[in-house]
Order: sequence, then C-alpha cells, then structure tokens
Amino acid sequence: MQTEQKQALYEEAEKELISITEGETDVTALMATVCCILSQKFDYYFWTGFYNVDPHKENELVVGPYQGTLGCLRIPFGRGVCGAAASKLETQVVADVHAFPGHIACDSRTNSEIVVPVTNADGQLIAVLDVDSVEANSFDETDRIALETLMQRIFAQ
Ligand code: SME
Repeated sequence: MQTEQKQALYEEAEKELISITEGETDVTALMATVCCILSQKFDYYFWTGFYNVDPHKENELVVGPYQGTLGCLRIPFGRGVCGAAASKLETQVVADVHAFPGHIACDSRTNSEIVVPVTNADGQLIAVLDVDSVEANSFDETDRIALETLMQRIFAQ
C-alpha cells in the first residue's frame, strides 16, 4: 500500500477511535475497540490483537482482545516478536517472520508483523499490540509511527 494511503487510513482510524473511546477508561473495552476499528480498516491486517502483561506471573504475556484466527494464549518475555517487544520496550517491525529467531507461529499464514509496546499514563508496560499480515514486508515506518502514536493517545492519557 502507498504511504499516502496508509497515512490517510491511520488518520481516519485515529479520529474514529478518539471519538468512540472518549471518556472510556476500561482497558478491555479500549483494546477490543482498537482491534475492531484497525482490522476493519486495513486489508493487510490479518491478525490484530493485544497480549497483556500478566500481573500474576513474572515476565509473561497473556492473550487479550483480538480479531483473527486462534492466537496462542501465553508468551514469555523475550520469546518471539511479542516477547522481544515486551522485554526491549521497543517496537519490532519484522519483514519476514520466518527469519526472526524464536518466532511463534500461531498461524502459519503469517509472513510479516509489527509489535508495539503499550504503556499506561505512569509509563508502565501493560501490553503489546501485535499485528500480523499474510504478505511479506507489510509494515514500515508509517505503521510504526502511527501505531505508537495511537497507543499513546488511547492508553497513556
Ligand atoms: N507472532 C507472534 C505470536 C503471536 S501470534 O502470531 C498471534 C510472535 O512471534 O510473537
């Protein structure tokens, strides 16, 4: 997809989400709504969902709201792309998941992905947003910047 087209769709998504979620503080409701709007808007979003930091287990993510095929339930910090984003607190843009060491193949049709850390207003990591595509090389700087900004606006304000 052309950069301009991506940017326009992200702007639309952000406007819609800011308006729909105004005044809502329930994190599950926010996550479910983000998954719905993003997955409806972007054709290349094959799996869209959150892995939450499990408050009862040290350094483990547990699946949260998502849209897509069956996702695995738990991911330890440091494992796969989600685990790398959680432990490094850094967005991971992976052009070819098969070349990523330790990638967890929940659905073998996934070929590229982006995982963005999600922090709350106190700056604490609460989850990661994981978006997978069946095409290789779907995500770039435009996705990274737009999704990082969106996560900040929805979960850290
Ligand atoms: N792709 C992820 C695993 C989660 S799913 O694909 C839904 C990863 O390697 O972290």
